[in-house]
Amino acid sequence: MAGLELKKLSKAYGNVEVLHDINLSIADGEFIVFVGPSGCGKSTLLRMIAGLEEITGGDLMIGGKLSNSLSPKQRNIAMVFQSYALYPQMTVAENMGFSLSLERRPKDEIARKVNEAAEALKLGPYLDRKPGQLSGGQRQRVAIGRAIVRQPQVFLLDEPLSNLDAALRSETRVEISELHQRMATTMIYVTHDQVEAMTMADRIVVLNGGYIEQVGSPMELYNKPASEFVAGFIGSPKMNFVKGRFADAVGAATLGVRPEHFVVGAGDDAWEGKVTLVERLGHDTILYVNVPEAGVLTVSLSGQHDQTVGDTVHLKPKMEFIHKFTNEGRPIAA
Ligand SMILES: Nc1ncnc2c1ncn2[C@@H]1O[C@H](COP(=O)(O)OP(=O)(O)OP(=O)(O)O)[C@@H](O)[C@H]1O
Ligand SMILES: [Mg+2]
Repeated sequence: MAGLELKKLSKAYGNVEVLHDINLSIADGEFIVFVGPSGCGKSTLLRMIAGLEEITGGDLMIGGKLSNSLSPKQRNIAMVFQSYALYPQMTVAENMGFSLSLERRPKDEIARKVNEAAEALKLGPYLDRKPGQLSGGQRQRVAIGRAIVRQPQVFLLDEPLSNLDAALRSETRVEISELHQRMATTMIYVTHDQVEAMTMADRIVVLNGGYIEQVGSPMELYNKPASEFVAGFIGSPKMNFVKGRFADAVGAATLGVRPEHFVVGAGDDAWEGKVTLVERLGHDTILYVNVPEAGVLTVSLSGQHDQTVGDTVHLKPKMEFIHKFTNEGRPIAA
């Protein structure tokens, strides 16, 4: 197990810099999630930590040791990818133990480690099957198991769940969180799914265009986003951004209101609009409301409500929860 220190890390391909001045301390045992839109540099940063991509500027410390020029193997890091490429002709047990057999470790040691990993990942019943006889979720767990048996100091996972359907994704998400709690190994997990980031991370690193936008716990990012970008990226459904008259009234260039921070049916100074769409999720009801001068706003109501398309509704933001931003997207303190 080890902590990591990223000091002014940068990456350039030729003369194009894709990661700039990345400073980050990761504590031993922490679950860190890199999140951000496609192309922001998540995978590149992860691959630089793994040793699969050259570091073109700055220092990478792993367990206090300068690691820029160490090989992936010397770094003692395991990586799980989105496409997990198991060996089809080998059993689950053979796939999981393969890296250890390459190192010619004793058979009983391999068997013990494979069995431990299989138990942690609930793969016990499938050890003798071939990958072709497993579901997508089970195969992804074998790929994780293959990483676990090596007992690395750090786990790196790059969108490991993106090939799974929604139900399996949330199930496997819970399993990875439980696994992390049990193993207490440092994990860095890349995703563009902010729900995965929010539910799994101790701390989230939001990347945008090769820069770190903000680092913080999920609730810090949700409650105190350091920029309009983070405010719009963290939270589902997304925060509403309103300009013009309503923003002027609170002294901001942009007023941000989360969908769950509206009261519907409030009095005089409420915003009047027409419902254009209703999504009934059972536990929540999402209204899309066209408010003149504000645009179509997303309103999330807890529980079941009977508004329908065409209804006129009155919305009032809960003032204690609003966000204000400058023209440059920086937050204005309340
Ligand atoms: N070999 C390369 N040569 C030149 N540019 C590259 C190379 N690999 C990646 N890039 C660029 O670096 C940037 C970051 O790419 P990266 O794969 O890290 O993004 P990402 O955040 O993982 O995106 P995604 O969510 O789509 O996986 C992109 O603009 C990409 O085009
Ligand atoms: Mg990527």
